[in-house]
Amino acid sequence: MCDGETAEPIKQPVRSDEGTETEQSVKRTRRGEKFTPANEVNLHGNDFEWVDLLKELSSEDLILYQQIRQKCSEKLQRVHNELISVRKVKKCADCFYPLGHDNNVGVLEVTPTSEADAPSPASVPAQCSSAAAEHTHDPQSWERHYMTNKQHFPVKNYIVHAFPSLIPRMYPGQSHKEALDALCGVSSTSDASQQPPPPPALSYVESVGGRVVMEAGCGTGSVTHPLMKLFPKDTFICHDVSGTAVDILRSHDVSKLHVAQGGQLETFVLDLSRGGHALTAAVEEYCMHSLGNRASKGNTDFILLVFVLSAMPSLQHMVHALRQLRSYLRPVTGRLLFRDYGALDHNFFRFHRQDNMFLESSLNFLKGDGTEQFFYDIETVHELFALSGLAPASETVYHCNRIVNRKNGKRMDKVFVNGEFCVAPLPEDASDAKDLKNTKTD
Ligand SMILES: C[S@@+](CC[C@H](N)C(=O)[O-])C[C@H]1O[C@@H](n2cnc3c(N)ncnc32)[C@H](O)[C@@H]1O
Repeated sequence: MCDGETAEPIKQPVRSDEGTETEQSVKRTRRGEKFTPANEVNLHGNDFEWVDLLKELSSEDLILYQQIRQKCSEKLQRVHNELISVRKVKKCADCFYPLGHDNNVGVLEVTPTSEADAPSPASVPAQCSSAAAEHTHDPQSWERHYMTNKQHFPVKNYIVHAFPSLIPRMYPGQSHKEALDALCGVSSTSDASQQPPPPPALSYVESVGGRVVMEAGCGTGSVTHPLMKLFPKDTFICHDVSGTAVDILRSHDVSKLHVAQGGQLETFVLDLSRGGHALTAAVEEYCMHSLGNRASKGNTDFILLVFVLSAMPSLQHMVHALRQLRSYLRPVTGRLLFRDYGALDHNFFRFHRQDNMFLESSLNFLKGDGTEQFFYDIETVHELFALSGLAPASETVYHCNRIVNRKNGKRMDKVFVNGEFCVAPLPEDASDAKDLKNTKTD
């Protein structure tokens, strides 16, 4: 199960880790999941301020956090330098160094090339360091995860609250709540008396038509399925490294209903951290025939990346995955919707104190089932996305939830990082432009 989420049955209004849902009208599917209408769900992310959590850290934890933050910056600076130097010999935005054109890139950890890469004794737990040095990323770990865990990630009914741009406004000035209520077939009364009557609302289909939504690392559909229920005319392209997860998503009743009602769904298995043009090749093979132009590069309205990037083998692989996705995003209006584990999360320190192996070369934690996990601070997210030609389209924020154990009073602070991104220039293009300008002035 996804850390920081709960599959506990929801009783009278009660808070899950990421959202509240009311029992009223919660329906269970054959598989036992609960789909709650999106307008009856709230997303709780403001139990405390991230900066206050930072202030409360012990000096030991603060040093640990600062060391990791510093290493992220250094690693990303090296990726940046490599991008700029490789650009001089190769012109391909999707598949820059070091992952090549051949779709067959290994995912071994990056060999330390400098002293700065080498494990620092201060941050590697002594009992783990030799094992960490031997560890290689295991691309089969997620497949094993889905084959052995029959209980999957809980349905994210809150997803349209995390990413408000998913909800189209049907007329200017319509609020998110009004638009959501209208989509869910409820008429909003809020503020109605104070505002001029809205112009006649277009139906959803008239106003939006069918958008293209891609989900990378879709798992069994915990994000896609609530969206399918809200947007029956949208086209969904879902992929994941695990074939078992993709099969479960595809064979789910909600997917079948979506297709039966005329919506489109294409799925495929893909390791997005692999190099070359893996995504392009897969889209061409599995989507072009049925979706035509909608599956072309630059035509995707939304790309969802929810708790996926943190599972990639290194920051370099994350940049490469993001670049492949970026090439499908619609310029100007397209949005890449990113949600993942945040720095200072309870588990970040718990993993450090327990037996979880910290992989110095990737700054990931290795979990018991062989999957890996990274924790993001907002600066790292912005540096990483900038290297991938993506800029924030709205404020990137931490969502902070506090869970207190009623029996022992112990506190668990969950931190998620949440942001929407749009296509921006690639750093090497900006560097080319600067070179050109300098040449002209020379
Ligand atoms: C924590 S789960 C999240 C699943 C889903 N997005 C959700 O929010 O419920 C991480 C997902 O990322 C997928 N994943 C991990 N590494 C991947 C990779 N290199 N390429 C594609 N998918 C990957 C896993 O198989 C898994 O389904």
